[in-house]
Amino acid sequence: MNKVKLTATATFGLEAIVKREMIKLGYDVTVSDGAVETEGYLSDIPRLNIHLRSSDRILLVMGRFKAYSFDELFEGTKALPWGDFIPEDGNFLVTGKSVKSALYSVPDCQSIVEKAIVEKLKQKYNVSWFKKSGAKYKIQAAILNDTVTLTLDTTGEALNKRGYRSSAVTAPLKETIAHALVDLSYYRPERILLDPCCGSGTIAIEAALKAKNIAPGISRKFVSEDWGIIDPAIWKNTRSAAYADINVELVPQIFASDIDPKAIEIAKNNAINAGVDDCIIFENKPLERLKLPGSYGVCITNPPYAERMGELEETEQLYRDMGRLFSGDKTWSVYVITSHEGFEKLYGRKADKKRKLYNGNVKVDYYQYFGLRPPKNTH
Ligand SMILES: C[S@@+](CC[C@H](N)C(=O)[O-])C[C@H]1O[C@@H](n2cnc3c(N)ncnc32)[C@H](O)[C@@H]1O
Repeated sequence: MNKVKLTATATFGLEAIVKREMIKLGYDVTVSDGAVETEGYLSDIPRLNIHLRSSDRILLVMGRFKAYSFDELFEGTKALPWGDFIPEDGNFLVTGKSVKSALYSVPDCQSIVEKAIVEKLKQKYNVSWFKKSGAKYKIQAAILNDTVTLTLDTTGEALNKRGYRSSAVTAPLKETIAHALVDLSYYRPERILLDPCCGSGTIAIEAALKAKNIAPGISRKFVSEDWGIIDPAIWKNTRSAAYADINVELVPQIFASDIDPKAIEIAKNNAINAGVDDCIIFENKPLERLKLPGSYGVCITNPPYAERMGELEETEQLYRDMGRLFSGDKTWSVYVITSHEGFEKLYGRKADKKRKLYNGNVKVDYYQYFGLRPPKNTH
């Protein structure tokens, strides 16, 4: 098989993290808004889907061309080798988006792209009608500055759906963002990790998965597994290699607590599903009554943001209590994600570093307070 272009999509602000992950896996990458692209083979589709922790999905780039008219869109689409990827019974569906382009009507563009693909497949399979009864192929036509990029989604259900979160509290973090928060911190498995507002346990679980080198997609399915073009042995071997790479001996010390007993129950179950329940000590306790479980720890947390009426006073008190909890121990590093602009004032200290991120559609800041470095040889 020839080389293919693969794009790992990322929430705005997480591109650098996905880039780092891909470089670690050995890929050369180019980064643009919301996307990290690489060149590889079809065998890289299982690898990227199974291993990437902060990407949303892996797209196979079918082609990229300029189009200013529907004719150019039709011909450009039809010229691509759709029959090499989509079988006669392929259940394909076209979605679209258009930004700053002459072809701005998304429904029209979708229908032109679909017509061009049908024409191309008709020639290949010599039929006049497609049953679409087989595997799913989600095609996206993304037009930006008159450049059309046509992709096939290899992931299916987005990559944040690891399969361990059977239920969640209100406003859970996406697993991909929770991983990003861990990645952006100085957390290493030798250090203690604490999430005092753990909700469904996403940060603690993502930290444990990373510490033990458990690939996030190791036990879930991906839509491209149903395509005939990737040998099932490649999926199997990629998973076996990922299992072999798990650090079974390592049991990181992670503490997760919450004021809500239901949240703790949910978080415990999720940790069991993820296979990391032995790494996390859960406790139903309000932050204001917590004692720090050691020194040189790393706190990563996603407290309430007080976006609903009536929550403001309690949330602001929680931020003050958080500041008080850590003010007595300079060895702790503290990382807090919130949209509340008065956070630093309530916490009682200006952050050493701030980073803008998006939690869903909510613009947030990631406040970072660096603690003292652990003495060498101990951590
Ligand atoms: C935004 S949610 C956290 C979501 C979590 N990151 C997840 O992925 O599910 C905030 C959590 O803070 C908890 N919380 C609110 N006040 C608290 C307090 N005083 N002490 C400890 N936890 C508190 C809530 O019960 C809720 O579960």
